[in-house]
Amino acid sequence: PTPAKVKIVEVSPRDGLQNEKQFIPTDIKVELINRLSQAGFQNVEATSFVSPKWVPQMADGAEVMAAIQRKPGTIYSVLAPNMRGFDGALAAGADEVVIFGAASEAFSQKNINCSIAESIARFEPVAEAVKAAGLRLRGSISCALGCPYQGEVDPSAVVDVARRYLELGCDEIDVADTIGVGTPARVERVMKAVTEVVDPARVAGHFHDTYGQALANILASLQAGISIYHASVAGLGGCPYAKGATGNVATEDVLYMLHGMGIETGVDLDAVVDIGQWISGHLDRKAASRAGNALAAR
Ligand code: HMG
Ligand code: MG
Repeated sequence: PTPAKVKIVEVSPRDGLQNEKQFIPTDIKVELINRLSQAGFQNVEATSFVSPKWVPQMADGAEVMAAIQRKPGTIYSVLAPNMRGFDGALAAGADEVVIFGAASEAFSQKNINCSIAESIARFEPVAEAVKAAGLRLRGSISCALGCPYQGEVDPSAVVDVARRYLELGCDEIDVADTIGVGTPARVERVMKAVTEVVDPARVAGHFHDTYGQALANILASLQAGISIYHASVAGLGGCPYAKGATGNVATEDVLYMLHGMGIETGVDLDAVVDIGQWISGHLDRKAASRAGNALAAR
């Protein structure tokens, strides 16, 4: 049955901005996060504690985390690929740490410079430390619907990583279509396979919209009982190690669809439209959200 309530994880401060070539001033990142929490998102993915050589845009993660105004009850998540990242996350007061692996060997090498097995071994101490610190642990599975380097990815490869994440104690597991190549029947198959081993209440859909399939893929996931979705205001984003991939599905479009279906999100769509127009203006481009632009023009 389709869930009556959905949690949206707003990933624009991290996934949305990480690929921007021009360094975005820290105060803009802080304002974005503050405005998102005020708009009602329960979970905001704020930044990454990764190598600044690999992702220069996220180099100010500690400053961003120190400057935001925490809204009580909001979960502020950060990415951490190793213990160095965990130390940064802990010092910054993150509520949730995201380990990020892949269902594709080729992508694992390009994105985090190690094999899938090596990445899991690297995540082990991170997971232990996250749990010992009493924080939430989330595991992201890139290339769950296809890989920019190796093409096809079998659902069983996604399930393998999901199992490892469960063993590590992940509270939530993200099925990520890094390059937006998935289509609904395929998404349904992957979600079915994953929810055979993971409680559907703990599975999230992270869809990039490169091929315009993201909303359809969310609908297919809803029908598979998935109630957590990642989205990025104004459709910002892309992964620096997935060339040509566009941003995540635009939050405004997701909210418009869900609210239209009578599904509760707790998020104020009008506020999100304003945020989308503001941040796009700052980046000197038109927002990549159909609903956002339509609502802004009214
Ligand atoms: P490496 O080069 O193999 O690791 O990178 P290393 O341990 O040799 O470290 C290299 C340098 O980075 C060293 O500095 C380290 O100190 C430093 P140097 O000695 O050369 O001056 N370093 C760090 N600095 C700050 N924070 C850290 C850290 N770790 C090492 N945590 C590594 C391995 C994992 C570090 C690197 O590959 C990396 O940082 N990758 C991050 C890639 C990334 O952030 N990608 C985007 C996010 S994932 C994504 O977008 C997908 C997602 O949205 C889901 C989807 O759509 O699929 C989540
Ligand atoms: Mg992503």
